[in-house]
Amino acid sequence: MKNMVQQVVTLSNSVVMPLIGLGTFKIRGQEVIFKVTEAALNAGYRSFDTAAVYRNEDDLGKAFKKYVPEMGLKREDLFITSKLGPKDHGYEGCIEAFNLSLKRLQLEYLDLYLIHWPGVQKLQPEDPENQKRRNESWSALESLYKSGKVRAVGVSNYNISHLEDLLQHCSVIPHINQVEYHPHYQQKELKKYCDEHGIKIQAYSSLGTTVCNSPLLENSLVKEVAKKSCRTPAQVLLRWATQQGVGVLPKSTNMDHIFENYDLNFDLSEEDYKLIGSSNITKKYAWDSSIVI
Ligand SMILES: NC(=O)c1ccc[n+]([C@@H]2O[C@H](COP(=O)([O-])OP(=O)(O)OC[C@H]3O[C@@H](n4cnc5c(N)ncnc54)[C@H](OP(=O)(O)O)[C@@H]3O)[C@@H](O)[C@H]2O)c1
Repeated sequence: MKNMVQQVVTLSNSVVMPLIGLGTFKIRGQEVIFKVTEAALNAGYRSFDTAAVYRNEDDLGKAFKKYVPEMGLKREDLFITSKLGPKDHGYEGCIEAFNLSLKRLQLEYLDLYLIHWPGVQKLQPEDPENQKRRNESWSALESLYKSGKVRAVGVSNYNISHLEDLLQHCSVIPHINQVEYHPHYQQKELKKYCDEHGIKIQAYSSLGTTVCNSPLLENSLVKEVAKKSCRTPAQVLLRWATQQGVGVLPKSTNMDHIFENYDLNFDLSEEDYKLIGSSNITKKYAWDSSIVI
């Protein structure tokens, strides 16, 4: 969309990240990935969020190869994120997994690489080995970052205790913590902790995940503000986060929704912003990492 200004956030290492990225969880198959990537690039998205476990990196790589030059764009116009799968924790496993993601995406470097989950696949959440292995993964991310193969590194689904432990051992402080974050799950303490340590929060499941009749999209306060501001409930929910400098990753395979979710060039009034956040519902819609020690 020609008139839309790309909203951005600057990470602690001065890397500039778009605030709006396309979420790609559960978007699979070459035909749909091509359709969605083309529409998203046309709408103005430059940031795409994938992960090894989404099993769509191959098709996304092919789509970038086709549409980026076709649209007169360059690699450096994009901001591509992928994530280390929980089965690949550990120093060597992480380096290998990162290189595989790069190969599948047909890229020379990533813009952001995240530890997807603080726990290791097949270990019990209370197993102390989780902590050891994820810290080894973090050392690998630091090496990749220092070698220039990734422009920013971070974590996902880390709560304060996971971060406190990491910050005792790391030489690079995570640039991002990607977590569930929306008016029903506001994570105020985590946000404060991240703000104090220069870690930017990136929100996922802003629209309540892929459930039917999402309680977030159906929320009466959200609907009220949407009606008042001549916007949709999805736009109001996404703007609630971006207005705080929090990135969003709306997932959609619907062409209208893809355009609508990128069209966030409006401001919520202080009153409307507070109203959306005043719901007394506390509910998490995605997986819960608080059980992982
Ligand atoms: N790090 C993690 O552990 C983690 C966990 C979850 C998600 N994520 C990332 O965050 C992204 C987003 O989260 P999510 O996949 O849980 O879902 P989400 O973005 O909260 O919600 C997606 C659902 O909302 C619908 N939708 C999208 N735009 C809409 C609109 N304008 N109006 C009405 N409905 C709309 C979509 O349906 P249509 O397709 O029909 O539009 C889909 O059913 C993921 O794709 C992934 O990239 C990360």
